[in-house]
Amino acid sequence: MIFSKKEDIHVKPDIQVVVAGVQHLRYVDEINDTIEKASKERGTGIARRTHEYIATKISEGKAIIAIDGEKFAGFCYIETWNDGRYVANSGLIVHWDYRGHGLARRIKLMAFDLSRSKYPNAKLFGLTTGLAVMKINSELGYRPVTFSELTDDEQFWKGCQSCVNYDILLRMNKTKCLCTGMIYDPAWEVKKKKRKTPFKIYKEWLEKRKNEKLNFGAIDWKKIIVLGK
Ligand SMILES: CC(C)(COP(=O)(O)OP(=O)(O)OC[C@H]1O[C@@H](n2cnc3c(N)ncnc32)[C@H](O)[C@@H]1OP(=O)(O)O)[C@@H](O)C(=O)NCCC(=O)NCCS
Repeated sequence: MIFSKKEDIHVKPDIQVVVAGVQHLRYVDEINDTIEKASKERGTGIARRTHEYIATKISEGKAIIAIDGEKFAGFCYIETWNDGRYVANSGLIVHWDYRGHGLARRIKLMAFDLSRSKYPNAKLFGLTTGLAVMKINSELGYRPVTFSELTDDEQFWKGCQSCVNYDILLRMNKTKCLCTGMIYDPAWEVKKKKRKTPFKIYKEWLEKRKNEKLNFGAIDWKKIIVLGK
């Protein structure tokens, strides 16, 4: 199927995108079914998550859900690796009825903010073959990287075992595969803040000059002249 963007309403404002809570546990099976059906459709063969796994993510406040009234529209959850030093926003799914309206972008943005507030020092990363996710991640500040930059947590890479391309990953000694690895490192923000713009340098220079002038004016010249006599 060729992807078609719905130009009429880019963002459907009536759809609520929120951090999922226990009141959303009733959607777990529908979420899981939708993820499984979509993965079969894409031919990726990603393993079905257990009911408990998704339910725990929701109960722990580590998931984002999109709801249209009572109808399930989209979902995504947070996973942590290497003791919380690496965070992935996984299981992104938008129900077919709601695709092409910017909903994935809204979900990913909220998952990004939630991840940043829960794990401010963690590197956020993901693996994808999808253009939509690549676009959204780039907008959020992710950069494409080689797999060497991603988590080395064995548990994460075990998740690839059910993928149809797993043999390629193994043949490449887990250094590359068909997915693109993307990462967002919060340390980049610190560097960005520290980096001075020409305007900032000029402002600081002006400020310094102003202070020097002030100090110069504060000198009691009469005293100096008297002392000099
Ligand atoms: C991929 C998916 C989440 C996109 O959801 P969506 O709500 O339709 O996406 P959005 O409307 O927010 O689109 C975001 C951007 O991606 C683009 N996009 C969306 N789906 C696309 C597709 N299938 N192919 C190419 N570009 C796509 C949009 O045009 C938009 O970019 P633009 O604003 O620059 O034009 C949805 O199709 C889905 O659930 N797919 C099955 C599961 C999946 O692939 N998950 C990702 C696993 S990594």
